[in-house]
Amino acid sequence: MARSALLNVMVQAAIKAGKSLSRDFGEVQNLQVSVKGPSDFVSQADLRAEKIVREELIKARPTYGFLGEESQEVKGTDGAHRWIVDPLDGTTNFLHGIPQFAVSIALERNGEIVAGVIFNPAADELYTAEKGGGAFLNDRRIRVASRRVLSDCVIGCGVPHLGRGNHGKFLVELRHVMGEVAGMRRMGAAALDLAYVAAGRLDGFWEADLSPWDMAAGLILIREAGGFTSDMKGATDIFGSGNVVAGNELIHKALIEVVNRPIPTR
Ligand code: IPD
Ligand code: CA
Ligand code: CA
Repeated sequence: MARSALLNVMVQAAIKAGKSLSRDFGEVQNLQVSVKGPSDFVSQADLRAEKIVREELIKARPTYGFLGEESQEVKGTDGAHRWIVDPLDGTTNFLHGIPQFAVSIALERNGEIVAGVIFNPAADELYTAEKGGGAFLNDRRIRVASRRVLSDCVIGCGVPHLGRGNHGKFLVELRHVMGEVAGMRRMGAAALDLAYVAAGRLDGFWEADLSPWDMAAGLILIREAGGFTSDMKGATDIFGSGNVVAGNELIHKALIEVVNRPIPTR
């Protein structure tokens, strides 16, 4: 499988940051038993990973802009290109010793995502996609699942928590979706949730209140794997709205209908 020079740069950055996260994850497991707990250490791990990604990307393409979760956005002198990076997606999993977290790197060109890399170091799973070139898990080409009806589907979602999101609205969405599907999952790392849709592991996914770095790489993976993505109204304003619905053509459409059903009166 041939990768472009740009995709190689992204892959190298993701793997290097992933190695740093793996080392730190080992330490987090030791810190679980300490009184203070590992949270300060995890913040440092997150910052270390972003520094590694940023340095690798800037070294290779010094003129591109950089939007990372952990630092101020840097506008590039090249106005057309911007990296969008989540150095550690699935922080709560990481903090709790759950091996479901990832580095996510996307490249935006003139407002369009043209390449994406998501690396889960604990599983040694590397997801890559470039516009027009298909989507891959390690060296294997991936496609979205082909199930046609929600009743056969396993659907992923995000769940709002203390201080985050609209709990009442989510409960209405969940009530409608769980009544239609074969299973629900809340895995805890949105970038990997989207990668799982691209790989056909999840048939569909929806979540509100996300940021561009949670979604950017996953969106191109799904599109290059033959899937569909939109905001919860079925429109294209995914970054602006902060919400996303994904699946194959039929499941994407069905999920949009179900998550938008009105609040039941009884
Ligand atoms: C979070 C994860 C989680 C999602 C949250 C995100 P973080 O990102 O993707 O699955 O439900 O909304 O903020 O904080 O772990 O990078
Ligand atoms: Ca994130
Ligand atoms: Ca993060």
